[in-house]
Amino acid sequence: MIRDSHLFSQLQLGSLTLSNRAVLSPMTRTSAEPSGQANDRMARYYSRFAKGGFGLIITEGIYPDLVNSRSYENQPGIASDQQAESWRPVIQAVQQEGGKIVAQLMHAGALVQHSGFTPIAPSAVRPVGTMLEDHGGSGEFAVPRAMTLEEIRAVVESFAQAASRAKQIGFDGVEVHAANGYLLDQFLTDYTNHRTDEYGGSTERRIRIVVEVLEAIRAATGPDYVVGVRISQGKVNDFHHKWADRESDAKIIFERLRAASPHYIHTTEYKAFAPAFGEGSPTLAELARRYSGLPVIANGKLGEPEQAEALLEKGEADLIAIGTSALVNPDWVKKVQAGEALNAFDHHFLQPIATLKEEETVE
Ligand SMILES: Cc1cc2nc3c(=O)[nH]c(=O)nc-3n(C[C@H](O)[C@H](O)[C@H](O)COP(=O)(O)O)c2cc1C
Repeated sequence: MIRDSHLFSQLQLGSLTLSNRAVLSPMTRTSAEPSGQANDRMARYYSRFAKGGFGLIITEGIYPDLVNSRSYENQPGIASDQQAESWRPVIQAVQQEGGKIVAQLMHAGALVQHSGFTPIAPSAVRPVGTMLEDHGGSGEFAVPRAMTLEEIRAVVESFAQAASRAKQIGFDGVEVHAANGYLLDQFLTDYTNHRTDEYGGSTERRIRIVVEVLEAIRAATGPDYVVGVRISQGKVNDFHHKWADRESDAKIIFERLRAASPHYIHTTEYKAFAPAFGEGSPTLAELARRYSGLPVIANGKLGEPEQAEALLEKGEADLIAIGTSALVNPDWVKKVQAGEALNAFDHHFLQPIATLKEEETVE
């Protein structure tokens, strides 16, 4: 049993006092209304994690604009006042249980799995891999249209407006999704970004849009509102991608992000405790901490509490985010505190698709 642990110690994250270091990882469950509004089932689903002891809850990826940011059918948005208002009961349900909730803002870019519009991306490059079956897709992705400079500016602005709405309705903060292969990560990734303007080429230029999004959000929400950013190497459509210049890329990326002064960086890897660039290299979380000096949330196969505790103890991360293990243990924190056995996650749980199950929405 883990006692007197790092895992169960408080942390001040900007203006938020978190009761422990366990974070619910963002997970898309495509269970919103077709209009992109959140609903009561989602409120009941999220409140279970607050009741179960998670110090911080990060929502599923929420789309920020009505033009072309939505990735999946029944994904929730925060692109209009109506969509924003629909989140109030979700926020209240979590906060009533003593939880804190951050909205993850996510632009699909080329990873679009419905036929509503032509996807946009840094360059007209068809995404590798195939659509996600967990979210009801199959077959190849469409070839996206390369964004104009005007569209880039509009996307940056839409993130800022979405963050303003999130703040206004009571979210405790926002997280910018710059990981896992979605739009902002498409800019960062060498093989999906062939631009020759200030948003393409060197790593410095490819991370630029993320820095601009963070700065625009800061300008719109003020210095105290909690803003984080999620970064990865791997993608939902390319699990094994690695940054070409390895640690030098990590240094550039995390130093640039630091300059935009988010409150935290959230790194996600298949295994958070594994070396980021092969045998003997540091973990991605450790590199984020080293080069940004900011609090770091580490994610990836940390459902085993000993593994999570070890990462915190070594000082490689300040918080740990739990994904799949939390789905089958919404009371993960309470169970670990009590030394109770955890349910094992099996991918069947998300089949045939990853929408909310009846048992996840009971009070
Ligand atoms: C069903 C499902 C949906 C996910 N949706 C998102 C998402 O919307 N945003 C995001 O950043 N990560 C998303 N992820 C990735 C998780 O946040 C997490 O990184 C991944 O599950 C690995 O962590 P784990 O080993 O603890 O499960 C999703 C994962 C799953 C299983």
